[in-house]
Amino acid sequence: MAIYLDHNATTPVAPEVLDAMLPFLREEFGNPSSNSPLGHRAKDAIEAARHEVAVLIGAQPDGIVFTSGGTEASNMAIRGTVEGQSTAAIVTSTIEHPATEEPCRWLARQGHAVHRIPARDDGRIDLDAARHAIGAATGLVTLIHAQNETGVLQPVFEVAAMTRRHGIPLHIDAAQSAGKIPIDVAALGIDLLSLAGHKLYAPKGIGALYVRSGTRLAPMLRGAGQEGGRRPGTENVAFIVGLGAACRLAAGRLAGGASETAARLAAALFARLRQAIPGIVLVGHPTERLPNTLNVLFPETTGRAVLENCPEVIASTGSACHADREEASHALRALGIPEHAALGAVRLSLGFATTAQDVEAAADALITAWRQCRAPHRARA
Ligand SMILES: Cc1ncc(COP(=O)(O)O)c(C=O)c1O
Repeated sequence: MAIYLDHNATTPVAPEVLDAMLPFLREEFGNPSSNSPLGHRAKDAIEAARHEVAVLIGAQPDGIVFTSGGTEASNMAIRGTVEGQSTAAIVTSTIEHPATEEPCRWLARQGHAVHRIPARDDGRIDLDAARHAIGAATGLVTLIHAQNETGVLQPVFEVAAMTRRHGIPLHIDAAQSAGKIPIDVAALGIDLLSLAGHKLYAPKGIGALYVRSGTRLAPMLRGAGQEGGRRPGTENVAFIVGLGAACRLAAGRLAGGASETAARLAAALFARLRQAIPGIVLVGHPTERLPNTLNVLFPETTGRAVLENCPEVIASTGSACHADREEASHALRALGIPEHAALGAVRLSLGFATTAQDVEAAADALITAWRQCRAPHRARA
């Protein structure tokens, strides 16, 4: 079995999550809007899940809206806050996931000004540039929390201080950070926050948007009044239950020190690679990062060549969403990393089940693969 180090792309469904879901795909098939015992049980299950999601991020349950995933949550937040305000400018960054970048581009085509804060070479956005960009004309600030490729954490707290001063809503894309590090929306001062179930051991196709009470948000869909009218349509009960179970599991693991374990294993993996591969570079800030994520630049070859020579390890080159393109990652290029160096990138993202033995075996396999594929490269040069 290959060692799976691609948990930022997606995670397996946890057995506890599947067990929680199965009754709602079998006998508990009620429509949560139906006034019957079956319907009431489905409704209760949704509300219990809403509570679990809220607990994971320090929110009130009535602030949680279930969506089909991170992309829908971010589209809802970004489009829903500026709809009807044609002069509202949007402030975002140059290192966003397409789930944010594309709705921003769409709004730019509708006439909204969009300002993109650049990132520094440590992978964090430039706070001076943010201070200049955020002002009276800003209708929304939308920022990624943990960058999906580098794992670098953005200065959300500092940006929230700026948005609060101006009374501007702040949306945070926490698809990668939720479940990997503690998040408290109240302490951070966040108005809207996106979650993606499949990054934290729930299935694909379920997510949530946190909306702070009092935040103005136009719905994208119109229909019956589910989710308080913010996201109408009969609820995906089983998947919502799965997301709730995954959030409960994540909260327990975080309390049990899972972040620290992941950080220790990731550090051990990088130490092995650095010892054997002169010139290998860890992208981004050394400490302000997700504990599970290593984005490394292999020298003298490409990340794709390394992985093609390394069937023992499943990982990503560049963003998983563009895994079939041999093109340097936009997110790495945005940090000023030259094209040839960025092509050496491999993202290794650990999961809760990753062991010290996995890390040792993965390091051995990656080092062997690098030695194999750099040789022809050198001969050509
Ligand atoms: C940072 C980030 N935002 C949003 C998404 C999109 O989430 P989903 O796949 O649930 O639509 C992803 C998934 O790759 C992501 O990494």
